[in-house]
Amino acid sequence: MSYQSDALEKFNNLKNKKDVIVLSIESSCDETSIAVVKNGREVLSNIIATQIEIHRRFGGVVPEVASRNHILAISNVCKEALNEAGISEKDIDAIAVTYGAGLMGALLVGVNFAKGLAYSLGLPLIKVSHVHGHISANYISHEKLEPPFICLLVSGGHTAILKVEGYNKFVRLGTTVDDAVGEAFDKVARVLSLPYPGGPEIDKLAKEGKNVYHFTVSNSLKNTYDFSFSGIKTEVVNLVHNATQKGETLNFADIASSFQECVTDELALKAVKACKNYDLKKLVVAGGVGANSRLKEKLGALCEENNIKFYSPSLKYCTDNGAMIGSMAYYMIKDGIGLADLSLTAKPNIDLQQPNVVR
Ligand code: KG4
Ligand code: ZN
Repeated sequence: MSYQSDALEKFNNLKNKKDVIVLSIESSCDETSIAVVKNGREVLSNIIATQIEIHRRFGGVVPEVASRNHILAISNVCKEALNEAGISEKDIDAIAVTYGAGLMGALLVGVNFAKGLAYSLGLPLIKVSHVHGHISANYISHEKLEPPFICLLVSGGHTAILKVEGYNKFVRLGTTVDDAVGEAFDKVARVLSLPYPGGPEIDKLAKEGKNVYHFTVSNSLKNTYDFSFSGIKTEVVNLVHNATQKGETLNFADIASSFQECVTDELALKAVKACKNYDLKKLVVAGGVGANSRLKEKLGALCEENNIKFYSPSLKYCTDNGAMIGSMAYYMIKDGIGLADLSLTAKPNIDLQQPNVVR
């Protein structure tokens, strides 16, 4: 039997198998992560080799450097994931991998490693969207959480409000028309001389400052679920550059606080508005910026006021990790979608609404 027909048969059998163990691989940006996840919610291991220190000296992720470091790390991360889970290769039911969105070279390392592993072990290979993995991180942290819900997706590459109608059914209500919010956090941090990644640094510094600038975002998107963050980003950059040229000193903590207040207001108000308009009583935050303490505070308070239950992943599953990919893969397997063949390649961009399946 060829690898592909064997994998297809195994994949189909997993639909009704009681316990499904997935080994999942994530390498879309600057974390090499491999996890072992049982039945979508139980994390047996989640090893993350981060490259943050390596990229910090460049002030951001250097794609070529990221790819090389994924290559150096991935075999050992895999061994460690199996060791920590206390299982051997023969206990694995499927291999899952992030095939996009992300940095092409970085993604290719994970995809090719996954293909080699799936072929050599004769296992089905599941292709997972990174963004959908971020949403699934919530299933790990909240064992009773099920769709439907509204998801506020906030990462370094994406900003969107999604109506999650099923585990594999995503309807995009709005998105950013320019920068992703994480990108805006990172760029503002850079102009404030904070190290990479800037988001957590702004979060920290903002606690020492006050919202004295009262920044606003463009009014033109007011009645939509869309976002625009390039205006406020440019305003902060110009403010700092002009002050530097005049030899003036600014209070960077106040700038951090004012920036953070503005963008978190915009995100929280629109996300809660979506819950109310679509009459959904659950709001889920997903992606790295979901770790922001002020955003969580505002979402928590607004949800309570409006009788909506608010969910966010525990901190370790907020930013990039393999476990969230294993969780998503489980629900794809159960819906019978996502089986890849050995021609699978990486995709830098993936439509947020694909695949589109209701159980
Ligand atoms: O989801 P993620 O790990 O990677 C992508 O898929 O993009 O998100 C990374 C982004 C970065 O822009 C980082 O600065 C931001 O998440 N981030 C934060 C915080 N922690 C991470 N932004 C604001 N506040 C935080 N506490
Ligand atoms: Zn991510």
